Amino acid sequence: MNNVIQQLIDRKSVRQFTDKPISNEDKDLIITAASNAPSAGNMQLYSIIDVTDEKVKEKLSVTCDNQPFIKEAKMVLVFLADYRKWYLGFKEVGEPRKIGPGDIHLALADANIAAQNAVTAAWSLGIGSCYIGDISEQYEEVTKLLKLPEYIVPASMVVFGYPTENQLERVKPERVKNKYLVFENEYRDFNAEEFKDMWSYKTGPLEYEEYMKRFLNRKYNSEFCDEMNRSMKEYLKDIK
Ligand SMILES: Cc1cc2nc3c(=O)[nH]c(=O)nc-3n(C[C@H](O)[C@H](O)[C@H](O)COP(=O)(O)O)c2cc1C
Repeated sequence: MNNVIQQLIDRKSVRQFTDKPISNEDKDLIITAASNAPSAGNMQLYSIIDVTDEKVKEKLSVTCDNQPFIKEAKMVLVFLADYRKWYLGFKEVGEPRKIGPGDIHLALADANIAAQNAVTAAWSLGIGSCYIGDISEQYEEVTKLLKLPEYIVPASMVVFGYPTENQLERVKPERVKNKYLVFENEYRDFNAEEFKDMWSYKTGPLEYEEYMKRFLNRKYNSEFCDEMNRSMKEYLKDIK
């Protein structure tokens, strides 16, 4: 196993941070790693907001489904899908069509791939991180807070900091077996037995059906998912 693959396998989310600040040099390295991620047409269809204002961090920890550890993070980066800058650049020289769903799809991919490079780079420096998917909630609040104009869609937020001892000791959650991730040549649905086998390691003391019922209600049929869907509709309302 080489060092890169070992680090990818070892990385885990970190939600408690020590007081040690992240140096400007390391921050710059992490951003440079993000910038060097693959990018559609090398257009770098994203922007990054480095949230340094403690009041903004505090507000984000509320708008992002009340997760207090966000405000304790030493670095908070919001990755924005940003085709807008190219659209405005094109407008300087011609008559670009409106931004469409395919453009947003590319920009979201670009932004999240860059974010993952930042996560991997940070881990290699001993800095932990955690994605915050809830950045796509609370459209009204977040657009106001970060002054997001039309066509800018938050792809992800990642919070960073040095892990506390207990975070280092925390066991990383297991993954499904590779055979449940990869199909050869064509997609197929799993049968009931395969579903059960695929996720059986997750259920702990619960029966599989009971675990699934609880997970359905806690995650999928949850208020935060409803809010995320409402909010994303707002972000995408003018994208036809
Ligand atoms: C798109 C995305 C959104 C996430 N949102 C949150 C979040 O809002 N809060 C949180 O604590 N963890 C969040 N996570 C972290 C996941 O819970 C974590 O990656 C998963 O449980 C696997 O654990 P690991 O990263 O330690 O391997 C998110 C991860 C991703 C990729």
